[in-house]
Amino acid sequence: MSHKTILITGASKGIGYATARHLAANKHRVLATARSEEKLQELKNTNQKRIDCISCDLTDTTSIQRLTDFIREEQLEITSLIHNAGGLLKKSFGELTDNDWNSMWNLNVMSVVRLLRASIPFFGKNSHIVTIGSMGGYQGSSKFPGLTAYSTSKGALVIWTECMAAELKNREISVNCLCLGAVQTEMFETAFPGIKAPLKSDDIAEYIADFSLKGHKFMNGKVLPIALGNP
Ligand SMILES: NC(=O)c1ccc[n+]([C@@H]2O[C@H](COP(=O)([O-])OP(=O)(O)OC[C@H]3O[C@@H](n4cnc5c(N)ncnc54)[C@H](OP(=O)(O)O)[C@@H]3O)[C@@H](O)[C@H]2O)c1
Repeated sequence: MSHKTILITGASKGIGYATARHLAANKHRVLATARSEEKLQELKNTNQKRIDCISCDLTDTTSIQRLTDFIREEQLEITSLIHNAGGLLKKSFGELTDNDWNSMWNLNVMSVVRLLRASIPFFGKNSHIVTIGSMGGYQGSSKFPGLTAYSTSKGALVIWTECMAAELKNREISVNCLCLGAVQTEMFETAFPGIKAPLKSDDIAEYIADFSLKGHKFMNGKVLPIALGNP
């Protein structure tokens, strides 16, 4: 017998942590990942019964393999995957090296590709993949100097979402992207020091959690801007 679970990445802090907690508090089983074992343990301590944690570096295929081994051993069926993990690099275009571009691409785009490739055998029918994009990567939104590599990588996730919805339609897996606006987290503070975001992680967690559970009943291959302000 398989156990239905929601897989969420980047769950050691910020938006991912709050979303994992919110889902578990609402009686959903959650498999939470990030690199920091210590912070994942803190998350697990908030709801031992419903949260499983596996530390995983999404830039490393061996690490992802350990995650999928766990899914197999525990006979988990993924009902939603929230691709939330991400990183930010703030540098002007002239300062960005090839290495910087590659590392942004590797973390923000290729991690999503790698994780889905490895975990797709464990998806059930009518499941939902939610890609966490950014307003910085949403066409027509305001852009900010120093965030070119980050915003470009997030923009790629928008098209990835649309393509994957077409690829996975026959398997009854839906794929949608939420392009988030400003949420008060460590990442936001690095991007916009001194500016106060209109939302906290717990606020957006409620929306992301509900969307991961229900959004695919109403849409597929869609990219939604979820923002109150600018940034
Ligand atoms: N905050 C905002 O205003 C905002 C706006 C738009 C979009 N977003 C997006 O929302 C998502 C969450 O952002 P946040 O603000 O909550 O950021 P955050 O507080 O910096 O958290 C990022 C998460 O990603 C994980 N992570 C980073 N590198 C990883 C790796 N190599 N392997 C596995 N996990 C990794 C981190 O965990 P470890 O360090 O433990 O691995 C952490 O849990 C990101 O995709 C971000 O781009 C945020």
